[in-house]
Amino acid sequence: MKRFYAYKKVALMLSAACIFSLGGAANAQVITIPVETAHHVVVLQVDGEKNLKTVYFGKKLADTKEYGEVAALQKIGTDYSGQLNSAYTTAGSRNLAEPAIAVTHADGNMGLHLEYVSHKVTKESADVSLTTVILKDPVYNLEVALHYKTYFNQDVVEQWSTIKNFEKGSIILQKFASANLYLQAKSFWLRQYHGDWAKEMQPEEQQLTHGIKVLDSKLGTRANLFQPSCFMVSLDKPATEDEGTVMYGSLEWSGNFRVDLEVDPQDNLRIIAGINNYASPYVLKAGDELNTPPFLYTISDKGKGDASRKLQRWAREYKLADGKGTRLTLLNNWEATGFDFNESKLKGLLKDTKALGVDMFLLDDGWFANKFPRDDDHAGLGDWQENRKKLPNGLGSLVKESTNTGVKFGIWIEPEMVNPKSGLYSKHPDWVVKQAGRPEYYFRNQLVLDLANPKVQDFVFGVVDSLFIKSPDLAYIKWDCNAVIYNAYSAYLKKSQSQFYVDYVRGLYQVLKRIRDKYPTVPMMLCSGGGGRVDYGALQAFTEFWPSDNTDPLERIFMQWEYSYFYPAMATANHVTDWGKQPLKFRVDVAMMGRLGFDIVISKLSANDLTFAKDAVKAYDRLKPIIFQGDQYRLSDPVTESVAAVMYVDTTKTSGVIFNYLVNNRYGQGNRLPIKLKGLDAAKRYSLKEVNLYPGTSSSIDGSKAYSGDFLMTAGFDPGINTGKTSAVIQVTEVK
Ligand code: DGJ
Repeated sequence: MKRFYAYKKVALMLSAACIFSLGGAANAQVITIPVETAHHVVVLQVDGEKNLKTVYFGKKLADTKEYGEVAALQKIGTDYSGQLNSAYTTAGSRNLAEPAIAVTHADGNMGLHLEYVSHKVTKESADVSLTTVILKDPVYNLEVALHYKTYFNQDVVEQWSTIKNFEKGSIILQKFASANLYLQAKSFWLRQYHGDWAKEMQPEEQQLTHGIKVLDSKLGTRANLFQPSCFMVSLDKPATEDEGTVMYGSLEWSGNFRVDLEVDPQDNLRIIAGINNYASPYVLKAGDELNTPPFLYTISDKGKGDASRKLQRWAREYKLADGKGTRLTLLNNWEATGFDFNESKLKGLLKDTKALGVDMFLLDDGWFANKFPRDDDHAGLGDWQENRKKLPNGLGSLVKESTNTGVKFGIWIEPEMVNPKSGLYSKHPDWVVKQAGRPEYYFRNQLVLDLANPKVQDFVFGVVDSLFIKSPDLAYIKWDCNAVIYNAYSAYLKKSQSQFYVDYVRGLYQVLKRIRDKYPTVPMMLCSGGGGRVDYGALQAFTEFWPSDNTDPLERIFMQWEYSYFYPAMATANHVTDWGKQPLKFRVDVAMMGRLGFDIVISKLSANDLTFAKDAVKAYDRLKPIIFQGDQYRLSDPVTESVAAVMYVDTTKTSGVIFNYLVNNRYGQGNRLPIKLKGLDAAKRYSLKEVNLYPGTSSSIDGSKAYSGDFLMTAGFDPGINTGKTSAVIQVTEVK
């Protein structure tokens, strides 16, 4: 498991190597600071007045020395303030645009101006470098460090800031962004996402016009319910899968975020991203510093597909918990039983898990609480003791039983939450986020616990810890988070309420860090009433996420398509359920595109369905190394075509798998044109073989033939998708 939240420490790790500094005004000189990755560069430049500006954002130049010349080409027109392309724009100075930072100084003054002091570049590994630029206000004793962490081979940059208060008294940060980018192009095209329960990751794409477009969340916990922080911006024209210049951005933060996209008066794009300053003026005491979370981005001039492959590789290599490992297949009981189960039913499900051939049984909601039993979603949250009626012999006995059955055992928890009908609520009302004197207002009949409070952090950690202490063989945690924060108030923070939203997330990260320190390898699913909380802040502790409660496979094709731009398949938990009208084969084929699971009643499957499902699990076990660690190519877009096709190819280009689905069955639709493969070696020869065939059916694809990679990528192949054959999984294998 990678080091958790290492970014907090990097500011201290800078070596003395590569230090440049600018003395007094008399020495003022132009300094160029290129922040490079394999194909991309952000060029920062210090002008004669010590302003740090972004003078270039785009394709890398062959000769580093020429970066000094790019500023002269910039025609940003009449920029009265000279601040539009500031690398970290201040408020209350001569700046006229949206600021990255706004401060009320100890003396009440609200003006800030930052000047370049020095910068350093440190190499953390062959791939990873950190550039840190120090800025200071010449009048007030406030310092900002801008950090640019580059992942060279993946073309990914993480950018964040550290704000240090050297003034004599407390200052208030009214805005404290992580990153401030500046892009030049003829036009900018934003692809953003909106959603709600069971309709996550709905894309919208439009040209950005002058003014500010804000993507944000004020929901606190289930922060992405209406909108995630991930987005794309195409330059000059909307990028397609394989063409155009596109930048992907996302904030590594599991709470309120804010991304300002401002097309300025000179038609350039200013992007300012960070924690949302909504209801959060942040008090920084004398001598203290604030580390903001990383804003990550990648850029490609080869379209959306290339950008997504870079991000997926980066995530597996550096961010996602156990990104180079594997994942467990499972049988979950939520859709199949809801809250209605008992020990003998669960024992039956353990047997079904074994019969199906998956790795693990996952016990969902409903297993806990006695005085206020968790028999529906109105009671019990907070009381994490086994329900004696449903589980008279405790969880330990079930975990043992599952080990004896030859399957692993995982469990659902929602430890950040409390039902008013619970022992915890009566015992610790001061641990609950609510406002005295106002009626309580519920989301799914529950309230949020105050994770800003260290005692609550101990409690939440204890929920997980005691599960493992009691049942060391417990193999997996599904961590849910169903409520947003209403009536934000922390009894613990007393008069410092403006810290609440930030301290909540920090409290959560504290708990996750403790869990990971003690249990570094246990797989954990990040769930939030579906995909209400998916971000790379949390995914450092989680091995996978639950994209949505909507498991209708037709809907999932579209959702998984959009999620895949930002997250690797191995992190995407897909379950086969009874949602939707499609046959079992279609549902399984769709779920196989990520981490496969089942949430159906196995004992009710027909003999053919059961045989199919068991064989599919075996086929998946063979294919999953390619799906988890291979490169993903989107071949046929479900939005514009009647057939969706997605392909995964291993890094040696010897094996691949193609998933094909009919998404429009009107008027006898099917794949009219051949599907052109991608990512193969043109010179190699490959066979195509359909797998996951339903019992009694045959394939139209001749598995004995071999084709060149060139043929498959130029002429394509026919997956034979039509209303009679709505999905096909095809294995691609190099023939020597
Ligand atoms: C919401 C999750 O998204 C579901 O998968 C399930 O775990 C329920 N919560 C349980 O209450």
